[in-house]
Amino acid sequence: MHVPGDASSMSFASHGTSRKRTQVAIVGAGPAGLMLSHLLALAGIESVVFESRSRAEVEATLRAGVLEQTTVDLLVETGVGERMLRQGSIHQGIEIRFDGRGHRIALSELTGGRAITLYAQHEVIRDLVAARLGAGGEILFDVGDLTVHEFDASRPFVRYRVEDRIETLACDYIAGCDGFHGACRRSVPDAARTEYEHVHPFGWFGILVEAPPYARELIYARHERGFSLVSTRSPDVQRLYLQCDPGDDVDNWPDARIWSELDTRLRTRADERLHRGRIFQKGIVQMRSFVVEPMRFGSLFLAGDAAHIVPPTGAKGLNLAVADVKVLADALIERYTSGSEDDLEHYSDVALARVWAAQQFSWWMTAMLHRFDDHDPWQQRMQRAELQRVADSRALQTALAESYVGRPLGNIDSGVARRAILVRQPADGAGSEARPA
Ligand code: FAD
Ligand code: DHB
Repeated sequence: MHVPGDASSMSFASHGTSRKRTQVAIVGAGPAGLMLSHLLALAGIESVVFESRSRAEVEATLRAGVLEQTTVDLLVETGVGERMLRQGSIHQGIEIRFDGRGHRIALSELTGGRAITLYAQHEVIRDLVAARLGAGGEILFDVGDLTVHEFDASRPFVRYRVEDRIETLACDYIAGCDGFHGACRRSVPDAARTEYEHVHPFGWFGILVEAPPYARELIYARHERGFSLVSTRSPDVQRLYLQCDPGDDVDNWPDARIWSELDTRLRTRADERLHRGRIFQKGIVQMRSFVVEPMRFGSLFLAGDAAHIVPPTGAKGLNLAVADVKVLADALIERYTSGSEDDLEHYSDVALARVWAAQQFSWWMTAMLHRFDDHDPWQQRMQRAELQRVADSRALQTALAESYVGRPLGNIDSGVARRAILVRQPADGAGSEARPA
């Protein structure tokens, strides 16, 4: 068995910017990769983060906005939540709107005080990059042609290009945090992974608008013309989405069409009209559900979008990425402190239990709120009946709220994973002793 080494004693003089060995090589400086590096550093474990884009690009990419309570707690507990606490806005409820009427889901009341925080993903990235660089951490931006090697053997390494030099970095473990289109998952032989995928028959057209908030809380609206969502970024910038064709083009959406469509889908009174702020960003997001199993291949561990994608309706993607790396960081810390690999062996099962629960929640929210062109009138009635049941039932609202604000880490999810591990039998059917979770 390969015993992970002490990176500092094994490193030697660099050529260029990087050393030749680290403990954990992390591919991707998104929320997953940066948070993993941060958590490891707090435990004295060394890592190098490789990112194909520039720092400016990474810090400017507009994506998620909803942070679960679990994510917020982790950012605060690990010392990177200070700006979020000052600038983010806490929401204790959301609205589900259909047939022109709103129904509040009282998130905090239904979940013992848990809430969501609206704080843009690129701000989380900026906070994490500043924390890592401030603590002397190594993030290599603008690396090219990165490939991962020998993760099925005991000497994994990463090869990459910096400017015109090809370099390698040996490590104990590789964390593939390089998003859905990254290199790590694709490096695993086809026969060693099973992929589950569903591409949804619509996209989201998203805009950023200079305007004061349109609502006190997020609005998820179902209308016969399609879904729409009212979110926020700050007192001066609002984030709105509307369901569109997956093959649609931003150029098909002049401002007047966007406003007219949003007015129609969101209105609760005949004369209701959204305030027309200046639209300064437009983009289309594809809707995909995807999971790869397992999430570990030898010494390569996948985390975040590299391993799974959810449609954005449940606001789970970033939060799942953070949950994955918390589980992975704890397992690596256990490995480096006690020498036990048990938690690393269970990483995939523990992470996947949370992932599938989030997949189901995201799919439920998506199915309940979007227009499906192929639905017959009976199916349309079923969708409305389901929304009405949620509006009428505290029990269903509680289930929605619990998933939306996020379950505490290592609580119910590890229970699910533990059961999954206990029921798994050896391939030859002999013996039934399960590993402890
Ligand atoms: P990424 O953020 O994709 O980061 C991966 C990084 O790896 C990137 O910086 C990439 O440049 C880098 N990389 C890729 N390939 C390589 C390579 N070969 N070498 C080196 N680096 C590489 N989630 C929520 O939780 N809440 C929300 O409200 C929400 N809203 C969303 C709204 C939109 C419009 C979109 C698009 C997504 C939303 N999500 C939301 C999802 C969320 O943004 C993602 O799930 C999250 O970014 C995943 O983080 P990650 O670190 O796994 O991957
Ligand atoms: C936002 C994105 C989501 O996917 C969502 O469900 C709620 C809000 C946002 O970007 O603000």
